[in-house]
This record gives sequence, structure tokens and C-alpha cells, in this order.
Amino acid sequence: MRNSTVPTILIIDDSPAIIEGLRAILRPQYRVLAARSGEDGIRIAQSRNKPNLILLDVVMPGLDGHAVLAALRENPETSAIPVVLLTALAGAADEERGFEFGAADYISKPIKPAVLVARVRAHLQLAARAVQLAANEERLRAVVEGAIDAILTFDSAGKLQSINAAGVTMFGYRQTEILERPLGSLVPELADTEPGSIIGDCFQSNGPVAGRQRLEVQGRRKNGSLFPLELGLSKARNHDADLFILFARDLTAQRNAEANVERLGRERLTAIGGMAVTLAHEINQPFLASIAYLNTARQLLATPMEQRCASVEQSLDLAASQLLRAGQIIGHLREFASSGEPNKTFQNLHELIREAHNFMLESLVRANVETTLCLDARIDLALADKFQIKQVLTNLIRNASDAMSTSLKRELKITTSLIGDEMFRIDVVDTGSGISPEVEARLFEPFVTSKEYGMGVGLAISRAIVEAHYGEIWVDQSPGGGAIVSFTLPLVVQGAPVNA
Ligand SMILES: Nc1ncnc2c1ncn2[C@@H]1O[C@H](COP(=O)(O)OP(=O)(O)OP(=O)(O)O)[C@@H](O)[C@H]1O
Ligand SMILES: [Mg+2]
Repeated sequence: MRNSTVPTILIIDDSPAIIEGLRAILRPQYRVLAARSGEDGIRIAQSRNKPNLILLDVVMPGLDGHAVLAALRENPETSAIPVVLLTALAGAADEERGFEFGAADYISKPIKPAVLVARVRAHLQLAARAVQLAANEERLRAVVEGAIDAILTFDSAGKLQSINAAGVTMFGYRQTEILERPLGSLVPELADTEPGSIIGDCFQSNGPVAGRQRLEVQGRRKNGSLFPLELGLSKARNHDADLFILFARDLTAQRNAEANVERLGRERLTAIGGMAVTLAHEINQPFLASIAYLNTARQLLATPMEQRCASVEQSLDLAASQLLRAGQIIGHLREFASSGEPNKTFQNLHELIREAHNFMLESLVRANVETTLCLDARIDLALADKFQIKQVLTNLIRNASDAMSTSLKRELKITTSLIGDEMFRIDVVDTGSGISPEVEARLFEPFVTSKEYGMGVGLAISRAIVEAHYGEIWVDQSPGGGAIVSFTLPLVVQGAPVNA
């Protein structure tokens, strides 16, 4: 109750005798104010000292009771105060008119004290309950509106009756355009409301509130896109009709996070697998070579000095250099594993090509391969991992040499050129057998080989390295027979910012 626990009653009546009579009946329980005209009554009702109930005479000079009532109802400050009309007029038409203006009740004169007290008490209780209800409703609305999940209610025909702010955002509509939409347009899987469907069964179930169900379905936004949705369903009764309540949570962010975790896990496994294969492949090559050199050294030792075509020391040196390379590979892989990324520094690519060629020269000579370097590109400065790019080059040179092992003409040509001002292109051209059709489509996949002792990972590793440098690698048949393996690397463009 306002201001104090004792409710205030305002009497508006032009007769001082009636005012005094009413005051005498009410004073023991209530605080009583009085006005002798409609104008005074309205003023008091609008003052800070608002009454909890008004007893209003219908017939008064000046503003009559109906006019006062209309004025009180128009003003939001006084519109909720219950007004009981006091009248000597017993006509039903008059009563109806009073109720139309919003009177809470009528009491006929002469007034019976017991009736007055009972009616006043009843209307004060009703008014207090209405205030309580309004407060509850506001609290509930705040809870629904503030919820993170969408809360929607549908009637038994499946039409949307209400939706909170989270729901409006989730489905991408404006509040005004979403109300009355059918459930099926927001959750296609729940379009069916007939008995036997999820919604139909929910409506059919007995009792005012059905047990809640949880479902995972797809929601449809205004733009037509579908998204994963977790739903809770429940049923309530509202004004004798079933109301279907839907609690909806958008699972998009959760699903994306799960997919990311899974993808990262897969990539990690692939990376670990790739690393193991790289290690095995790259170490295998120098080991095989050093075994060959050591075998040569053993044969030389078994051969009389004067008949030896090469020196034992030379063979041992070559074996040692291959073992050194194996050591370097392990060292580099350790570095690679700890940093995860290629260690890119400024490199002159022509220099790397010469170094890789020199490294392979011995085996190229043994395989009777003649090499031509046509390093014609005008610029060759790139950000690159020196070791990795040399690894690509040695893989390609070794493949070319292998492909020419049965060819009469064994010519290897490495050329460089520019694509625009930003990309550097390297072509490794041979006169070998050309790419065999069985492996052509899957050349860059790991373990694809046409060789008896090949592991089939050289090109897969090369592609991973080139792509980590933002380049591309591909294979073509050479017009002169044989193959051309080409790759590109981005150049450091003069004046451009550098992102290592
Ligand atoms: N220059 C080339 N000419 C013809 N075929 C080639 C050439 N380069 C690669 N290939 C084909 O591609 C296959 C895959 O090459 P890749 O380097 O990946 O593996 P590999 O050489 O067989 O084995 P390793 O793992 O020891 O390098 C080869 O087996 C070969 O059939
Ligand atoms: Mg190879």
C-alpha cells in the first residue's frame, strides 16, 4: 500500500452529510480524504498523496461522477485507482455507463455500512493483487528478455505468439515481422503439428504441463541459412488454450569450436606423420649413398693399388660427407619440430640452386648426366628456408637423374625466370622416360612411386615445402621427351613491406 500500511480512501461527494456519514464508517480502518466537487477530487487524486480507492458520487453540480471518472481514467497517474460509484439512481443503463467508464463497482444510496466496508475491503485487496501481478509480470518479462537462449511461444496452430530479444537476433527477423509466423518456417523439422508428430504429441499429452523434451534440430534464419539448434519443449495452458513453449540454443559457435578442435587434431597428426616420413626419407638417401661409397671403398681396398680407378680416401670422404648430411637433416628436423615453421631468411635463389647442384654433382657425373644451368632470372632475392629449398632442389635433381638412368641422352637443365615482378620460377628439365601414366595423377601424394627402391615421398615433401613458402609446384611432359618439374617462390619485392 502507498506511503503507509493504512490505505487511503478519497470520498468525492457534494453533500457534507454523506461525507461525514461515510467518514464515520471508514475512519476506524482507513485514512479518509474528502472533496466536495469533482474538480477538487481530481486534484487530490493526482497529488502526491494518492488514494488507494475512490468513492465517487454520480450526481454532482459541475463535473458529475461520470465526467470525473473519465478524467481519472485518462490520466496514467490515476487510471489504476479503483473507483466505486455511489448513486441513488438505480437504472441499469446508468450502471452500464459507469462500468464503461471503468468503474470498479456501484453502491446504491442509502448506503448500508456493512456493504460499504465489505466492498471497500474487496476492491482494496483486488487492487493490491493487481499491483503484485504487474510486478511479477515485469520480473518474468525481464527474465525472459534477458535470457541468453531464445524463448518462443506458439499457439496450438503452431503460430508464433511471443519471442524474446535473443530469439529475434537468432532467427534474424525484426520483432514485427516474426510474430504469427508458423513454427515450420523457423524450425522446418517441426512443421508438422498433427498427432503423431513431435509437436502434435506434445499437445496431445495430458495435464496442463507436458514433460520437457530435448531435441537437436536445424533452425532456419530469415536469409534461409540453416544452423544447428538445441531445443527444449514444454507446454502450458493459457486462457483455456494450450501454449507451446520452445527454448532454443544456437549451437553454431559450439559446433565450429568442436570442428576446429577436430581439424587441429587431424592436422597435428598429419604433421607428425609427415615429419616422420620426411625424416625417414631424407635420412635414407644419404645412408644409401654412404653405403654405396663404403662398398666402393671396400672393393678398392681389395683391388691392387695400381689397378684402382679411384682412391679409397676419396670414397671414404664421400661416404663421410653423406653421413654428415644425414646429421644435418636430423639437426634441422629438430629445429623444425621446435619452431614448426620454415626458418625464412633472405636468400639468393641462384646461389641455392648452384649449391644444390654442387652437392649432387658427384652422383650426376657417376650417372653420366650432363647439366646445364640457365639462371637467367633478373632478380632472385626471396625469403626462404635455405635448407628446405635445397631439399626440394636435390629431390627434383635426383628424380630427374633416376628418370634418365635408361636414356641414351642424359641432359639435365635447370632454368630460372620471372612471372611478373613478384614470382620466381624454377624449371628442372630432363630427357628421361617422362612421367609414367600410372603415377601421373597422384605424383604429389606420399608413397606414390614407380621405383623399386623409391619411397615415393620426394615430391610430397617438396610440395609441402614449396606451399609453406607460398609457392606452387607442378609437373609437365617436356617437348623433347622427359619431364619438366617446375615450382615458384615469391620474390622480395623492392619497397614492399616484408612479412617473414
Ligand atoms: N623427372 C621425372 N621423370 C619421370 N618420372 C618422375 C620424375 N619425377 C618424379 N617422377 C615420378 O614420380 C614418382 C614419385 O616421385 P617421388 O620423388 O615423390 O618419389 P620417388 O622418387 O619414387 O621416391 P623417393 O621418395 O625416394 O623420392 C616417381 O616414382 C616417378 O615415377
Ligand atoms: Mg624422388
